Amino acid sequence: MINKIFAQRLKTAMGNKNKRQSDLIREALKTEIKLGKSHMSQYVSGKTFPREEILNFLANALDVDVDWLSGKTTENIPKETNLKPMQISANTEPEIKKSIKLDNVLYDVRGPIVEEANKMESLGMQILKLNIGNPAPFGFHAPDEVIYDMQRQLTECEGYSNSKGLFSARKAIMQYAQIKKIPNVSIEDIYTGNGVSELINLCLSALLDMGDEILVPTPDYPLWTACATLAGGKPVHYMCDEESDWYPDIEDIKSKITNKTKAIVIINPNNPTGSLYPKEILQSIASIAREHGLVIFSDEIYDRLVMDGEKHISIASLAPDIFCVTFSGLSKSHMIAGFRIGWMILSGNKNAAKDYIEGIKMLSNMRLCSNVPAQSIVQTALGGHQSVNNYIVPKGRIYEQREYVYNALTKIPGISCVKPKAAFYMFPKIDIKKFNITSDEQFVLDLLKDKKILLIHGKGFNWAKPDHFRLVYLPRVEVLKEAVEKISDFLSYYKQ
Ligand SMILES: Cc1ncc(COP(=O)(O)O)c(C=O)c1O
Repeated sequence: MINKIFAQRLKTAMGNKNKRQSDLIREALKTEIKLGKSHMSQYVSGKTFPREEILNFLANALDVDVDWLSGKTTENIPKETNLKPMQISANTEPEIKKSIKLDNVLYDVRGPIVEEANKMESLGMQILKLNIGNPAPFGFHAPDEVIYDMQRQLTECEGYSNSKGLFSARKAIMQYAQIKKIPNVSIEDIYTGNGVSELINLCLSALLDMGDEILVPTPDYPLWTACATLAGGKPVHYMCDEESDWYPDIEDIKSKITNKTKAIVIINPNNPTGSLYPKEILQSIASIAREHGLVIFSDEIYDRLVMDGEKHISIASLAPDIFCVTFSGLSKSHMIAGFRIGWMILSGNKNAAKDYIEGIKMLSNMRLCSNVPAQSIVQTALGGHQSVNNYIVPKGRIYEQREYVYNALTKIPGISCVKPKAAFYMFPKIDIKKFNITSDEQFVLDLLKDKKILLIHGKGFNWAKPDHFRLVYLPRVEVLKEAVEKISDFLSYYKQ
């Protein structure tokens, strides 16, 4: 009975103060008091009664008399507590708060600087957006055949598909896996998704428990760090070394493994650096994963955007004995980011990962299926002539844009850059001493305000120092020329 009265009063006091369980847990963290989620929910549901020190803490945090809260007395009831549970006092503005799960989640590719750019646009200013790898606005279009085939199949795509995807799409992806020499892949090992983005989230949610560690590169495509955090895991960043063409630093990876490390993420070809990893680096990463029983997640969405005659190697092809998940899709290579179609391929030691695969299946079933019209053109897209090949060779748009922007940007005093081999990003370094830069976010904001060019600061890619930014070189050379001239002018006078 005492538990029930306490629970009732606790809820009333929380309502009056507009505090949620998570707020009290957070406040307790700042004190010596140990108050966990399960304690709080048991108090609120009347299942248990708190120890004296927790009772005192709650009374204090909620500004009520401790004897009243404990149910010992009906006296000293603060006026507001005559209100019904959860009712808000008249002068308190009700506030709807985001989950504390989001506290450390960062995704600045569409963050506050982008919001500032949107505000400027709404005031009629023209902003050159070099912030996001979205090919369509820069005049890259889907191959005609893809559009034609989607139109033809649209009426057959009204229903949900199998949760993993249509047979035709998965068969084509399976054949693609064969070309990439990924062994031991059946049609059941392939899952389509609403972009690779959905599958990254799904895979990490299915794997990570509170406090589990996952090795993620720095710099990274920030969705990996964000989803690992959201799933309750702890992303541990390993260095990619600018001095060695931005390859993963193998010694740094080794030094960061603990008994909580469950997986390693590689992004190859890399966003934001444009680096392409050689076989030796992939083999070294595979041996580390083998030695420590790690899952390998390989994000290969740019695998068909490789220049200079280089060849992309899937790490899964070198690791037939390790459980690997390889991600790719059509957003970049087929310029259809808006159609939302990606996939993942499970390979290697599936026996060891039986339970994890059950988890993946469950989450895949829960989202019913991915976009079916987009699945319907996977076979068309992956077969036959690959129009992307025309863009990545001399005289092709992506190749020439890279050549232009790399040469022009590295001529600016104070800017240096490793030449990217793949994708359509560059991650140049700024001489922070020369420009007195202490905040890279401020740097991109100042550039935006002065020159109306939108870049993303290095910290947006979980890069710790304020000395890098990412530039997307999808616009045509004429536009890039104007952008580089403006950046050059800006840096001729800029000091932070
Ligand atoms: C490395 C990387 N992985 C995944 C994605 C997301 O791709 P999708 O459009 O398939 O969700 C991106 C998008 O920019 C990316 O750069």
